[in-house]
Parts: sequence; C-alpha cells; structure tokens
Amino acid sequence: MLAIIGGSGLTQLVNMEVTRRLVMRTPYGEPSGALTFGRIGDNEVIFLARHGYAHTIPPHDVNYRANIWALSSQNVSSVVSVASVGGIRSDLVPGALAVPDQIIDYTYGRQSTFFDSREKPVTHTDFTEPFCEDLRVKCMRAAALCGKKAIDGGVYAATQGPRLETAAEINRMERDGADMVGMTGMPEAILAREAGLCYAAIAVVANFAAGRGNSLHGIKLEEVNAVLKVAMTDVREILDKLAEIHDN
Ligand code: HPA
Repeated sequence: MLAIIGGSGLTQLVNMEVTRRLVMRTPYGEPSGALTFGRIGDNEVIFLARHGYAHTIPPHDVNYRANIWALSSQNVSSVVSVASVGGIRSDLVPGALAVPDQIIDYTYGRQSTFFDSREKPVTHTDFTEPFCEDLRVKCMRAAALCGKKAIDGGVYAATQGPRLETAAEINRMERDGADMVGMTGMPEAILAREAGLCYAAIAVVANFAAGRGNSLHGIKLEEVNAVLKVAMTDVREILDKLAEIHDN
C-alpha cells in the first residue's frame, strides 16, 4: 500500500475517501497525528500530516521515527513525501515541482536511526541512492499523465530549521551541489530506508532560496503560502494518479 506524508500546505487530501483513523503509540513515541486510512479512487492509501493536522509541529520537532515506524507497521510498501522547498538552482522557481534523486544532510541533533541501541547489532545502511528509483519514476510518470511538469532529479539539502537560511549558507549549499533546500527530508528518508520502505519525495518550490530571485533581501512568507496553495492543487492531482498507478 502507498502512504503519503503531507508537508506544509498539504494537511489533508480532498479526494481521499476516509475510512478510518488510527491513533498509534510506537516504541519511539507518538506520530504527528492519527494515521488516516482511505481510498483515492479504487486504491487504498494512508495519509499522515507531517506537521500535525493543525500544522503545529515544527520540522526539527517532528517525531520522524514514530511516523515511519507507524507506517511500516501497517502493510505500507511505499512512502511518498510532499515537501516544500526553497529553490537554489535557477530553474527551480516558485511553483515548480521536482522529484529529487539525491540528498545532502545538514541537520543535527535529530533522532536519525532505528539502530541506536546496544541490544541491536551495529548496522550500516547503504544510502548511496537515498530515494527509491522505482517510486521516483512512478512520481514522474504520474505527473506526466496529469500533464504537469516535474523536474526529474536534483539534490535536496536538508537543513535544521525552523529558521530559514542566510544568503551565504545558500551559496555554500550551491557550491556543495544542492539544487533545493528544505527542512524535513532527513532523517525521514534514511528511516524509511532502514525500515525497508520505498521512499520518494515530490518537492514543491515555495520560494526562491535566501539571496536568490525575489528573495534577494528576504523571503516573503505571505507569498510562500500563496504559492503553496496553488501548487498543491497540482500535487493533489499527481497524488491521485500515483495512487492509481502505484499498485497496478
Ligand atoms: N529553506 C528551507 N526550507 C524551506 C524553504 C527554504 O527557503 N522554503 C520552504 N521550505
């Protein structure tokens, strides 16, 4: 089954027919909210709002382990994340969609592994390709089938937040090879890998990153919300199509 983790601007799926909600406790604490079970068309999906259904949990405080553990306990094979980002590369302009294929992790102090206890053997997880290629291709195909443009690939820089970056930090990230910057891709992606789940992200460019485009002297948060509102209608369509093609 496909699970969808919604980020900023996507706390519910209007086209999802909800069948039940499941409040879970996990060995890692409570997920961001109840798991929402339902159907998009004929296809069963689970939805979880990463920041809580009232958008109250900041990126550094999301219980990523509880979220991924909860999903992996429910017959989920794939997780698609919807994540808002700032655009660093020049074609990643506000409103653009991308399906990244690489990650650089700048976060710190987050609980980022399930293999953290002395009772478990030391485990080093391969993370050369942090996203599941099969699911990435399905995301791209779903976008194409909806007639929506999505940029294929790109390097996602995960920052700690909740503050936005300085212009110099963005310049450094660009030198590192980053194309977009967001606050939630890690440790979500590695935890999904550790749990054996296929994971991909649809990145929604909410703004030019700090110091770029019209964010030259600051990021205007009202504009971010307006861009996300419009872009999420495209994302919802793509998710509907993805649910359709995921298991077929
Ligand atoms: N930086 C980090 N995270 C973000 C941004 C940004 O500019 N926009 C949306 N999420």
